[in-house]
Amino acid sequence: MPTILVTGANRGLGLEFVRQYAAAGERVIAACRTPVKADALIAIAATSGGRVTVHPLDVTEDGSVSAFKSVIGDQPIDVVICNAGIYGGTRQGWDDMDFDAWVRTLSVNLLAPLRLARIVHDNLKRSGQGKFIAISSGMGSNASEGGGMHAYRTSKAGLNKLVSTLAQDWRADGIIAVPMSPGWVQTDMGGASAPLTPAESIGAMRKAIAGLTLAQSGRLFDYDGAPMAW
Ligand SMILES: NC(=O)c1ccc[n+]([C@@H]2O[C@H](COP(=O)([O-])OP(=O)(O)OC[C@H]3O[C@@H](n4cnc5c(N)ncnc54)[C@H](OP(=O)(O)O)[C@@H]3O)[C@@H](O)[C@H]2O)c1
Repeated sequence: MPTILVTGANRGLGLEFVRQYAAAGERVIAACRTPVKADALIAIAATSGGRVTVHPLDVTEDGSVSAFKSVIGDQPIDVVICNAGIYGGTRQGWDDMDFDAWVRTLSVNLLAPLRLARIVHDNLKRSGQGKFIAISSGMGSNASEGGGMHAYRTSKAGLNKLVSTLAQDWRADGIIAVPMSPGWVQTDMGGASAPLTPAESIGAMRKAIAGLTLAQSGRLFDYDGAPMAW
């Protein structure tokens, strides 16, 4: 039975990843900041026959990350979904930037994925077919149009470079690492007018993730598995 790890699993895309992988009969290690408030996630775990477990993890806090590592230990993990992310607020214009919020955005979206990568490397290697999937955004691609939102765009562009570099570092270990955009999706972050539902986005992403090969490691993908421009 494959084992999947999901961060930011209490709502939005993370919750939908857990829902779909659990329904497919897989083991899910679900991590979120405040499990006692994660009612929807706890409900999935309660009916999973022990396949879905819920654990506290603030991806920006060293103590939380090392406590989470002692929970997961060195078991093989087949897929890590590095999903936790923030949009960074509304003051992200070139002439009206909240610099403290920008630092927080980089901390969650760019620095935390490396914190996570460091603790799951051995687990992914033990899988023999490990995949590290970083949830990026079309807004981090240089091919995307539109100005503004500098904090979010730079955090995801940096994430793309981080993960393509990790792919090189980990190639000899047989671990696939890719950044993947979920599309524009109806969540708290995406808003109600987004064209995709979480079920559509994650359904397509799961299929794309299942088909990834080591030869594709380090490339940037859209939610449906189509290559994206950097
Ligand atoms: N929705 C879209 O259209 C869209 C488009 C492109 C990319 N994305 C990316 O997809 C990912 C998921 O987004 P979403 O739409 O599901 O957003 P969301 O509904 O706002 O959910 C964000 C998740 O990240 C968690 N999180 C934030 N900071 C965290 C931290 N320090 N430690 C642990 N968890 C933390 C949140 O936990 P709390 O509940 O504790 O805050 C929540 O579970 C993000 O990386 C986002 O950038 C989304």
